Amino acid sequence: WERPDGRPIRQRLLVVANRLPVSAVRRGEDCWSLEISAGGLVSALLGVKEFEARWIGWAGVNVPDEVGQRALTRALAEKRCIPVFLDEEIVHQYYNGYCNNILWPLFHYLGLPQEDRLATTRSFQSQFTAYQKANQMFADVVNKHYEEGDVVWCHDYHLMFLPKCLKDYNSKMKVGWFLHTPFPSSEIHRTLPSRSELLRAVLAADLVGFHTYDYARHFVSACTRILGLEGTPEGVEDQGRLTRVAAFPIGIDSERFIRALEVPKVQEHIKELKERFSGRKVMLGVDRLDMIKGIPQKILAFEKFLEENPYWRDKVVLLQIAVPTRTDVPEYQKLTSQVHEIVGRINGRFGTLTAVPIHHLDRSLDFHALCALYAVTDVALVTSLRDGMNLVSYEFVACQDSKRGVLILSEFAGAAQSLGAGAILVNPWNITEVASAIGQALNMPAEEREKRHRHNFEHVTTHTAQQWAEFFVSELNDTVIEAQQRIRK
Ligand code: G6P
Repeated sequence: WERPDGRPIRQRLLVVANRLPVSAVRRGEDCWSLEISAGGLVSALLGVKEFEARWIGWAGVNVPDEVGQRALTRALAEKRCIPVFLDEEIVHQYYNGYCNNILWPLFHYLGLPQEDRLATTRSFQSQFTAYQKANQMFADVVNKHYEEGDVVWCHDYHLMFLPKCLKDYNSKMKVGWFLHTPFPSSEIHRTLPSRSELLRAVLAADLVGFHTYDYARHFVSACTRILGLEGTPEGVEDQGRLTRVAAFPIGIDSERFIRALEVPKVQEHIKELKERFSGRKVMLGVDRLDMIKGIPQKILAFEKFLEENPYWRDKVVLLQIAVPTRTDVPEYQKLTSQVHEIVGRINGRFGTLTAVPIHHLDRSLDFHALCALYAVTDVALVTSLRDGMNLVSYEFVACQDSKRGVLILSEFAGAAQSLGAGAILVNPWNITEVASAIGQALNMPAEEREKRHRHNFEHVTTHTAQQWAEFFVSELNDTVIEAQQRIRK
């Protein structure tokens, strides 16, 4: 692992995820502009210096013509990204259908779609076929760019078939797979018609990772109960071959958030926001507009709080940033109108001529505006019905070192396992409980806020995204070496 001059050669890491870390916008027949998107996975891996990372994924746009595909491939190469081109029909069946209408709700305990059984079964079959086909298309691109010694790290529920496709190409490829959502109880997973095929395909990987120990345990139980395989403390064993299964909780690049608070533009923003909301406590929700985020339940809990606490009605404001997502999936369209209706009703009920209790925005904010908002917040509400980890809770904590605001956090978010001791944990389905947590947070004495914040800040700044990525990849390298030693014995 050294060059002739003694400098270490950085290992190549092929990161394969459904979505690339840049989104492409077409400016002309062969002209594209790219914007870096700052999701959890992106910031985690951009900070990793130890590897030479390349990304493989869907650019998020339909590019039917070869001229456009060539131009986009060239533009992406400068960002170390390699596109997988998916046509509209595949995107509809694989991404909107199987990924986001079937796997996503199921893995978050919302069950399978409840339409007419026969129709569901028919569309289920064709969506599953498209899912396998799309995974094979990702595998073809990985295989084309793979060089011996590379580590291939597959991400998320979109690509559960990928480890199998890759190992079919080359059984020596080092393949890791990481799930960013919860893995549900085996009793939920077993309702999925393609339950066994998916488990077997994931087990082709050398290392399988989850955010929490519970998700890893659920996965192992699914393999033992549904496939009849043996679960060991190390993972799952099938005829002498071990797939290692373990928990690797993700973090954020906390330094990036802390540094941002020093930027003059952010300080200016903070000043404006403080003036704008002076005399009122600020409560904040930042979520993709997704049913798993529990936005209607959160807003109803806020309504209950206002109903029961007239004193607070003109002294608190809830800012809800709801980032539109997966807008072609009908469930998401229904949710948008449901949220708008509830917000309108509550603002009509408790608003005055000069102020409304809820500011609801259907859009994302740029990084600096978001940091400013986190910094002026008194109480953050992260009340997902289920969530793999939830990094908004981490980002809020990172930006709160001068304010020491309170985090209300769903016990069903992976983050509850790491930030639970500092946050007020709630069952998001229990609106009465969330309403009383809001009261507790708004009235919390400074000393207790300080103690809770310290705990969380310490965790967020010491368990970073960079460590997470380095830990996973070094475990993957070790796992493969151990497996080779076992075979030699
Ligand atoms: C979740 C998933 C990610 C996904 C993100 C945004 O966090 O775990 O894999 O990229 O949502 O969703 P989208 O469908 O827009 O990629």
